[in-house]
Amino acid sequence: MSNAEPNSILIIDFGSQYTQLIARRIRECGVYSIVKPNDITLTEIKLINPKGIVLTGGPESVQSKNKLKLNAKIFNLSIPVLGICYGMQLISDYFRGKVSTSKKREFGHSEFKGNMSSQIFNSIKKSKMNVWMSHGDKVTVLPNGFKKIGSSTNSDISAIADEKKQIFGLQFHPEVTHTDNGKRILNNFVINICKCKKSWLPKNIVKESIYEIRKKVGNNKVLLALSGGVDSSVVAALLNRAIGKQLTCIFINTGLLRKDEVNEVQSSFKKRLKINLITIDSSNIFFKNLESISDPEKKRKVIGKIFIKEFEKHSKKIKNIKFLAQGTIYPDVIESSGRNKKSDTIKSHHNVGGLPKNIKFTLIEPLKSLFKDEVKKIGEVLGLPKNILNRHPFPGPGLAVRILGKVSREKVKILQQVDYIFIEELKSNNLYNKTSQALSVFLPIKAVGVMGDKRQYNYVVALRAVKTIDFMTASISEIPYKLLNKISTRIVNEVDGVARVVYDITSKPPGTIEWE
Ligand code: XMP
Repeated sequence: MSNAEPNSILIIDFGSQYTQLIARRIRECGVYSIVKPNDITLTEIKLINPKGIVLTGGPESVQSKNKLKLNAKIFNLSIPVLGICYGMQLISDYFRGKVSTSKKREFGHSEFKGNMSSQIFNSIKKSKMNVWMSHGDKVTVLPNGFKKIGSSTNSDISAIADEKKQIFGLQFHPEVTHTDNGKRILNNFVINICKCKKSWLPKNIVKESIYEIRKKVGNNKVLLALSGGVDSSVVAALLNRAIGKQLTCIFINTGLLRKDEVNEVQSSFKKRLKINLITIDSSNIFFKNLESISDPEKKRKVIGKIFIKEFEKHSKKIKNIKFLAQGTIYPDVIESSGRNKKSDTIKSHHNVGGLPKNIKFTLIEPLKSLFKDEVKKIGEVLGLPKNILNRHPFPGPGLAVRILGKVSREKVKILQQVDYIFIEELKSNNLYNKTSQALSVFLPIKAVGVMGDKRQYNYVVALRAVKTIDFMTASISEIPYKLLNKISTRIVNEVDGVARVVYDITSKPPGTIEWE
């Protein structure tokens, strides 16, 4: 989507942990939202031409010298503004109210009583609501021209409005699900106050994306590295709808994929969607190069390198390619452009399976402005099967980072079978979609067991299932013991080479989701 979407809300980010959530909630109201850092210029804002502006929360204090500043010229644009938490304090500070350090900080649940005659609370019946707070400072003197439209347990001025200028401030977080009527409040702002149309709907997104792709690509050819994951699958389906046979997908079989994955990808994309798909079996090269490597980071690097080499080798065989498509999604864009970048590289994740920087194609990234849930919704509109869209994430280096120590075909085969049983049982017990990610790990140790009357000495595998919203933190999924028991019995009985099954009960942090 181009920046100048005439029906959009601009979110100016002051470093809140909830910025992406605000953007998603607004889109759930059917309105396009775009996140920009706080130093966005007035010219850039005018180019975006938003119908409303949201100022997010943030970790700073408006009383601090080094605070993140607001470009106050936004108040001269005659566009409605909503300040949330720090955003409300910035508004108060600018319009000569007073912000002071609160004796009692408010974190978590709080009780709020609002003045329901304000437009921002339109059609909310009860004036008392449970809200989610996270602040140390509070507004103690109303800014000029504003009236108080709500107070909470620990702050008398918890919501403010200048209804004439259409500027609103909320001390609490309407974007968080713990806040009663949060969605209604955001809906009131974007639909009633900013007068946005509800046009950001999956069908329209598909239509507009197809138009943009055709305009950009013309009669040229596009290449896509298909991994079978959600993002690249939706890109494939979208490009296929837009440009049909001008698209060629290359699917590299690393030998490190899940059981039956190669066949599933072939049947979904080649047979069902009739996409131009070239499958390359590079598994021998991957296994050969991984033979002697047990260090997890080295594995990732080697796999990344071979992947690029193989992709380049095979892409050269296709003539006259101008564009390379990638499944970049909006959170990647925000994270790499914002000032709140994560600095620690715990694992060299997303460099792996990435494509070479010096590649001679022009990039096309049709999902660049979409969140993951939107990607799935447009995948549905494009007719992708549910088993592709609801898939758990799978790491680029595949089962290699789920086999501790050296990787071999034999170990991959064992792990594929174990993983298949685990996932099959989760699915048939209605737990797969309630779990964010489930995986099996091959441990390089052997343990004693008894099969029939025979003593056996065989491998140990670990099962892991987690629930998470953003994959940055995760808690373990509580799979019933009875089911775990059934799964372990099946694994030991059906998979040759496995003597024992253990279940990982470590949260993230301190654990990571994968074992390597
Ligand atoms: P961790 O293990 O760091 O993983 O808690 C967080 C999420 O990232 C996935 N992951 C990877 N994805 N290449 C990827 O493309 C990788 O090397 C990689 N390592 C972890 C992991 O599956 C989880 O969803």
